[in-house]
Formats: sequence, C-alpha cells, structure tokens
Amino acid sequence: MRISMIGTGYVGLVSGTCFSEFGVDVICVDKDAAKIERLRQGEIPIYEPGLEALVSSNVAAGRLSFTTDLADAVAQSQAVFIAVGTPSRRGDGHADLSFVYAAAREIARAMTGYTVVVTKSTVPVGTGRAVARIIREERPDADFDVVSNPEFLREGSAIQDFMRPDRVVIGTDSPRAQAVMRQLYRVLYLIETPILFTTLESSEMIKYAANTFLATKITFINEIADLCEHTGADVHDVARGIGLDGRIGRKFLHPGPGYGGSCFPKDTLALVTTAQEAGSPLRIVETVVDINARRKRAMADRIIAACDGTVADKTVAILGLTFKPNTDDMRDAPSLDIVPALVEAGATVRAFDPEGMGEARPLLPDITYCDDAYDAMTGADAVVILTEWNEFRALNIARMKEALAAPVMIDLRNVYTPADMVAAGFRYVSVGRPT
Ligand code: UGA
Repeated sequence: MRISMIGTGYVGLVSGTCFSEFGVDVICVDKDAAKIERLRQGEIPIYEPGLEALVSSNVAAGRLSFTTDLADAVAQSQAVFIAVGTPSRRGDGHADLSFVYAAAREIARAMTGYTVVVTKSTVPVGTGRAVARIIREERPDADFDVVSNPEFLREGSAIQDFMRPDRVVIGTDSPRAQAVMRQLYRVLYLIETPILFTTLESSEMIKYAANTFLATKITFINEIADLCEHTGADVHDVARGIGLDGRIGRKFLHPGPGYGGSCFPKDTLALVTTAQEAGSPLRIVETVVDINARRKRAMADRIIAACDGTVADKTVAILGLTFKPNTDDMRDAPSLDIVPALVEAGATVRAFDPEGMGEARPLLPDITYCDDAYDAMTGADAVVILTEWNEFRALNIARMKEALAAPVMIDLRNVYTPADMVAAGFRYVSVGRPT
C-alpha cells in the first residue's frame, strides 16, 4: 500500500512518518522546496520527541520519502491525505479552508485509478462533502471517495498518541474506502484499538467536540481553582476527588494559566462560529473562550500583585514560554499575553525556555533571552514558572535564592509544593492552593 501525505506540517509529518512505521509506503509532499530538501537531509523542522529517529529509520528502510511533486506522488497512491494548515481566518474566527480546497483540486488532476482522499486537517463539518464536490468538478470521470480521519495527537507525545491511540475515527459511507482505511490501520487492530466508523459529518464533528470538551474541562478546573483560593480548598485534592469518578475522568484537570496551542484556541473559536451560523449557538463554549482569554490577562495581574502591586522598574524572570512542555510551539501560548502585559507595566523581563526561544524571539522582542533558568533569575525580583518543563521541576533552591534579588515565586503550573517553598523562605504564589 502506498499513500501520499500532502503538507509536512506537524500533523502531516508525524502521521506520514508513523504510517511508514506501520509498514506503509509514504510520500510526504510539500510546496516548500527548502523544507523538503531539509527533510531529505534528515533535518526535522519541528521539535517533537522521537520524531527525528523515526524519520531517519523509515527513510533508510525506503518506506518514507519527501517531494515537492504532488502530481507524481498522488498518481502512485491508493490514499491521499490532506494535512495542510487550516488557520483561523482573520476577523470571523472561521477556519480558513483555502489550502484544503487548493490541495483537493491538485489531487483531482493527478489521481489515477481508485483513490481515497482523506482529510486529516481539522476541518469544519461539511468540508469533506465540499472536497468531494471540488474533485468531481475538476475531474468528472474520477473514481474516488472522500474520508474524514481526524487526528488526536498531542504535541510532545504525538508519536505515542499515533502508535497507541485511544481510538481511530474514520468517517465515510463507502465500504470500499472503509476497506482501504482498515488496511492502513491494520497494525492497530492487533493491539485492539477501537476503530470507529461514522459518516463524514459525524467524524468531522467528533474532532471539534473532543477538543472543545477538553478545553471546557480545563476551563472548568481553572474556575474551580479560583474558587478554591477564596475558600481555602486545594484544587489538586478537588481534581483528584472528582477525577476518580470514572464518569468525570482524571485527565485534563490540571489548573494553569489557561489553555493555549495551535488547536484548542482555534478549534473552540471555529466551533463557536459554526454553531452561531447554524442558529444553534454553543453557549458553554462561548463562555469557555471568553474565560480563557480573560484568564491569561488575570495571570499577569497575579504576578504584579505578588510583586507588591507593581513591577515598574523591577526585573521578572520567566521560566518557560511555549504553550506546554516538549514542544517549541509558541502558537497562542499564554506567555504571549502575560509577558507583554508585564513589559507594559514597566517590568524588565529575563526569560528562558529550553526549546521555544527561537520561535519566541520575533513574537516577544522586548525581553532578554537567557542561557538557562539561573541566568534568567539573576538579579530578578521574582521568578514565574509559565511552562512546566521537567528541568524547572527540580531547580536548586539555594542557587535560586542566590541568583534572585528577592525570593518570590509565582508558579502558574503548580510544580512546587507550597509548604516546601514557604519553608525555604519564598513568597510563593500558585494556582488554586492555600499557601
Ligand atoms: C490537543 C489535544 O489534546 C489533541 O488530542 C489534539 O489532537 C490536538 O489538540 C489537535 O487538535 O491537534 P495539544 O494542543 O498538542 O493537543 O496540547 P494539549 O496537551 O491538549 O494541551 C493544550 C493546552 O491545554 C496547553 O496549553 C496545556 O498547558 C493546557 N492544559 C492541558 C492545561 O492547562 N491543563 C490540563 O490538564 C491539560
């Protein structure tokens, strides 16, 4: 079986590489010639643990290749995955589908024989049918089916998520396309992964509903954390106490500075817009979007409050800039709201992130980028933990106190234990826990 993966962004590159690991021949296609050349040299444009090794072993095995020639790749493929970007359209919050539709047209022109066209990108309900119409328009004679096969990969653990998923969702009415998809995911049947067959529309909706539910869950626990602060309860005990109820579940109940990343903010907004236009508004999700935006700003206020109400002419050390650990991704990271608010309030910001500083520099130009956590803390009046990278979990307290001008920590990821930090002489502020 041979497939093409159109788009070598995060989703395309991880999915293509993992399919090749399953034993499928995969051709990854991208318009960006420089990127394809780098990939051919074994250079991975994103930071994702385990990806580089998997790319190189599958390239060496002859199962994975990279090209800019879409037509040639498609002509050889039984299935073609569309994994191009679907950014938020400026102004209206809709997903911009122009890349998806352009890919569909190009695929249509290049197909030979029966081809399954799969949308892997997160696309609004109805997109699969629109892709089918476009292909039919372009090539009335084409023998093809369109399938929706959303991905549920988390950045930082994407390989594991692809190889051992909780479920695979495949949306199509065509038994012929189902058979091709079954064959592609054959390896997962062996480990008894639930594979759910639905219609195109249900599959597209599942992706948005899943992300929106998770974003709601995080926002719920963040609000409970706020309430805990007013009542003396500890949000971690509350999260555990409710999460052990199997109906609620333990995951995604960790409070923090608000969700970020390339998916939750974009997908919640897109679903809100779809729902409003359908005349069936999702009022819970509208509220989630609003609370999350406010929360990021409130976190800057929390930092300022911990610095005796002002950061003017003070130095604040920021540990972690990416939206979560194990990624270099800065898209919609809480740091993008929090850091500028501190700078605006007069703070000098010294920051360190293990992987994200390259991406961060153009987005946050007015701060000093440091060599490591201790360098960032040197002379600072407070230290803020913004992303829970492992290396920030075991900082040397004595070295921290030596580096800092004042022992003040605002731990927005609840990495440290309040009692320990207070015993070590810190003014310690975290999220949803009594000090
Ligand atoms: C998310 C979903 O988890 C994936 O299943 C989905 O495939 C992906 O979006 C996508 O649509 O492509 P991702 O954005 O990589 O994955 O990251 P998550 O691990 O879900 O974290 C998202 C945000 O929520 C981060 O800012 C994280 O810090 C925050 N978060 C997560 C919390 O604040 N608390 C939690 O308990 C969990």
